[in-house]
Amino acid sequence: MKSLDLDDIPANPAMADSLDQLLARLESRRRFLKGGLGLSAVSFLGGLLPASRTLAGETSAPIAAPLGFKAVPMSTADRVTVPEGYAHAVINRWGDPLTANAPAFKGDASDDSAAQATQTGYNHDGLHFFPIDGKDGVTGSSTEGLLVTNHEYVTPHYFFPKGVQPGAEGWGPDWIRKAQHAQGASIVHIRLDAQGQWQRVTDSPYNRSIHANTPIRMTGPAAGHPLLRTQADPEGTRVLGTFGNCGNGWTPWNTYLTCEENFTDYFGIGARAEASVDDLDEAARQHRLRYKGGRKTSSPDYAWDTHDDRFDWTREPHEYNRHGWIVEIDPFDPSAAPRKLTALGRFKHENAALTVAADGRVVVYMGDDQRSEYIYKFVSKNAYQPGAPGNRTLLEHGTLYAARFEDDGKGAWIALTLDTRGTDGRRLGDRFNEDLGELLIRTRQAADAVGATPMDRPEWIAVHPRTGEAYATLTNNKDRGSGKARWPGGPDHPGADAANPRDKNIYGHIVRWREADRDPCGTTFQWDIFALAGNPVQYPEGDPRRGSASISAANTFNSPDGLGFDAQGRLWILTDGNNGNRGDYAGQGNNQMLVADPVTGELRRFLTGPKGCEVTGITWTPDQRFVFVNIQHPGEGPGLDDAQAAPLSVSTWPDGAAGTRPRPATVVIWKKDGGTVGS
Ligand code: FEO
Ligand code: CA
Ligand code: CA
Repeated sequence: MKSLDLDDIPANPAMADSLDQLLARLESRRRFLKGGLGLSAVSFLGGLLPASRTLAGETSAPIAAPLGFKAVPMSTADRVTVPEGYAHAVINRWGDPLTANAPAFKGDASDDSAAQATQTGYNHDGLHFFPIDGKDGVTGSSTEGLLVTNHEYVTPHYFFPKGVQPGAEGWGPDWIRKAQHAQGASIVHIRLDAQGQWQRVTDSPYNRSIHANTPIRMTGPAAGHPLLRTQADPEGTRVLGTFGNCGNGWTPWNTYLTCEENFTDYFGIGARAEASVDDLDEAARQHRLRYKGGRKTSSPDYAWDTHDDRFDWTREPHEYNRHGWIVEIDPFDPSAAPRKLTALGRFKHENAALTVAADGRVVVYMGDDQRSEYIYKFVSKNAYQPGAPGNRTLLEHGTLYAARFEDDGKGAWIALTLDTRGTDGRRLGDRFNEDLGELLIRTRQAADAVGATPMDRPEWIAVHPRTGEAYATLTNNKDRGSGKARWPGGPDHPGADAANPRDKNIYGHIVRWREADRDPCGTTFQWDIFALAGNPVQYPEGDPRRGSASISAANTFNSPDGLGFDAQGRLWILTDGNNGNRGDYAGQGNNQMLVADPVTGELRRFLTGPKGCEVTGITWTPDQRFVFVNIQHPGEGPGLDDAQAAPLSVSTWPDGAAGTRPRPATVVIWKKDGGTVGS
């Protein structure tokens, strides 16, 4: 997610609850804080599942391998830093050729839309390495594979040549198409050469860009729904494109999941200055306000509605409903159309964390990244069978649930089905015209009705490979407890609760849960807080803004976002926060990546990014010798005019002073002695 959501964090927020108040509230609910905040990590896994004991029927391998690297210090330098004994290289920059006939990247960003369609996209986010000979998404070659990368959005400051600004003079349809071709997901074949360097295979038949104009098939209960029909697609089954692609997932049947997040930013009123959401019918108006959170026209960073009618909702009101889904892609079949999975619900999807239950049913955990939104899971109707062709439709049929986090450390998954009754006793079927397709298009409103718990901006979720416990980043929420409405006419942002224990939460935290009987298909769970981010550099003992006791001056960070477990059970945490290194954020430096031990709660900084960037997206080779991460929006900070006048003024990464502008890119990191990364 771009940092726009962070720009308006106040430099000096009102004092949060005192630590005593916080502890009292939590302890009164007999939560996990028996030894203080810092012991929360131990109590959950350590208390219920001692590290010295293995689970019946599970591997005897330890739950987490120790952190073996020397922490890197906070950095404000314009470079990537990794621990001693490690090296890194940049691959797959924005503008690099995807195909053999792709034109060379023009340093002034004057490349047109046709060129961009054959080049790597912008603002890299989720990513996954598919071994070239693999069948299950994770095993196989560690020296050759397909790297699939999300491209979330464009930063017009650097994406367009000087003087080309969205909606301004000189703006036109091909600049919109260029931006559309830079978002979505790219597939690039990569190979480790004899010198130990990863190289792109630019003549590979697998390389392709799936972008905002790529034909995509709608699947699941909402496919063909009247609310998805447009002039160009009267059947409501074929949509053009995917954009706003944030986090990702992958399946054991070797497909990639790309998650559409801030789709609402792309729809406006074109030139119809008099148009208003009040012109919509009441159901559409309520729906639009619920998702957009306001009456604004499209983002000034995009302005697609100015020359592309399908993004002008006064002309094509249903196009809006065709985005906000998760899309499944087969990276090994360039002829296969990607598929939007309506059974997984429609909201501002962050990522998709998939696990398989003992009976073979597939479970997908998902977050909705907006302040005070919900956590969801999907449970497939049918079971996964290794190698079976039917796996390809597993995510088309099943049940979607929204999470309720109770203050006593228990939780419940509430099914979003027509027969479920809302907190007012009314059936969801009554509310959504006895139509599951409509319910899924309006997922947020269904979750509102059943009383799901508003969370502090759910970002990535990751499932521990051995325990099955799920961890979720809650990146921050300055509006919690503010008394502001969540959307026009909606309820206020709630105050602190046990799962979101700080009002005006500017640093974020990580929550985790264990399903009852360790069955991910279950409807109840236990939860606790793994870590509260904070700043011990800035705040004294007793102030909740210090965060958990596991947070120190050496590892302080804000806004946890990306998340992933390596095969040995270490938790990798990537940040997208305030990098001003002042005030509340003093001592935290640039955005970074840390590694945590899920048993002890220890957190250690592994990487720092260049200036103005976010660090996001993570994947490993099967042998765990290489880890890939993305550097998104390097150089972010100055206004549009200033950035276009002097594109290298903040960051020259990754090309250095010889380059012409900062470029989002992927970084591959390895241990020089050939060992496992993180060990
Ligand atoms: Fe695209 Fe929520 O980050
Ligand atoms: Ca994110
Ligand atoms: Ca974010």
